[in-house]
Amino acid sequence: MNIHLVDVVGQYKKIKSEIDNAVLRVVESGQYILGKDVSELEINCAKYLNVKHAVGCASGTDALQVAMMALGIGKDDEVITTSFTFVATVETIALIGAKPVYVDVEADSFNMNISHIEKAITKKTKAIIPVHLFGQSVDMQPLMEIAKKHNLYVTEDMCQAIGAEYDGKKVGTFGDISCTSFFPSKNLGAFGDGGMMFTNNDSLATKLRMICNHGSNVRYYHELLGVNSRLDTIQAAILNVKLKYLDEWNNQRRAEASVYNKLFANSKVMTPIENSFGKHIYHQYTLRVERRDELAEYLKEKKIPFGIYYPVPLHQQKAFSHFVEDNFRLPVTEQIVKEVISLPMHTELTIGMQEYIAKTILEFYNS
Ligand SMILES: Cc1ncc(COP(=O)(O)O)c(C=O)c1O
Repeated sequence: MNIHLVDVVGQYKKIKSEIDNAVLRVVESGQYILGKDVSELEINCAKYLNVKHAVGCASGTDALQVAMMALGIGKDDEVITTSFTFVATVETIALIGAKPVYVDVEADSFNMNISHIEKAITKKTKAIIPVHLFGQSVDMQPLMEIAKKHNLYVTEDMCQAIGAEYDGKKVGTFGDISCTSFFPSKNLGAFGDGGMMFTNNDSLATKLRMICNHGSNVRYYHELLGVNSRLDTIQAAILNVKLKYLDEWNNQRRAEASVYNKLFANSKVMTPIENSFGKHIYHQYTLRVERRDELAEYLKEKKIPFGIYYPVPLHQQKAFSHFVEDNFRLPVTEQIVKEVISLPMHTELTIGMQEYIAKTILEFYNS
C-alpha cells in the first residue's frame, strides 16, 4: 500500500483545473508582486476568521518576527512561550533580541499549561506566544485574563491551526496579532512558502503592512525598520482557490481522527484528546506510545510513513542553550518528546490505509 505522510499532489489533482487556471492567470497578467490576488486573499482570510485585518507575508516565520517588531518587542524583553513547538516560534523571539521564557505543556493536549504562566512573568515580560499545536486551541480565556492582568501582548502562533476553534470562535481572533503559515503541508497550504498576520487593531495593521514592505508606506520613504516579506501573487491565487475547501478538508481530517481513535480504542497507544472547549483540526494526529523509537523502526520496515514532532525541545537545542540554566527542566515536555509519533493525516487518506496503519501498530504492541 502506498501511503503518504502528507499528500499535497493527491489533493492538487482533485482541484487541478481550478489551480492551473489561477496560476496561469497570474503568469499571463505580469502582476507577480502583490496586486488583486493578494488583496482578495487578505479580505477572504479576514472574513474567514472574522477579524478586521489580514496582512500577507512570506512565511509563518516572518509573520511571527514582523508581529513582534510591530509590537515593539526587542532587546532585553522576555516572551513567554512553549518549548514544544516548531523552531520558528523561539527563533524569531531570539532574532529580535528578546529572550524566550518557557512554560511546560499539558501531557494530553501538548499545549502550554496556562497554570504555569504567572510564575514565569517578570518585570521584563512583554508578551505571551501561545502555540495552537497540532491544530488544537490553547485554553485562551484564562490566558487572555492573565495577559490583561499583567498588561502583556498576546501573539497567537496559529501556524498549525487555521480553522480550529475555541469556544465557538476561530483561533487567531484572541491575541493582539495572530500569525499563520501557508507552508505546503499545512491544512491550508500554498505551493511554496507563505504566511499571514491577523489583527483587529487598525494602527497595528498599518505597521505590519509597512514593516513587510521595507518599513514604507510611500515608495522610497521609509518610516520604520522593515523587511522584505510579501506573499507571492501566485501563492495568493492558489490559496484563494484552496480556502473555499478549508472547512470541508478540516472536517475530513476530524473524521479521519475519529476513525483512528476507534481503531486504537482499548489499546496501549494513547490517542490525542480534543478539549471540550475547542474544535481540533488535526494538523497532526499524534499518539503517545511506549518504545517509540522501536515502533518507528518497525514502521520504517513496514513502509508506513510517520513524523516525530518534535524530537528535541527548544530549550535543549544548541542554538538556544544560552537562554536557560544547565539545570532548567520542563518535565512534561522532556517526557513527551520521547513518546510522540504522528501518523499520516491528510485529505487523501482512505479508511483502508488507516486500518492498515492501525493494524501494523497494534501488531507491534501485541507481538
Ligand atoms: C508552530 C509553528 N510556528 C511557526 C511555523 C513557521 O512557519 P513557516 O514554515 O511558514 O515559516 C510553523 C510551520 O512550519 C509552525 O508549525
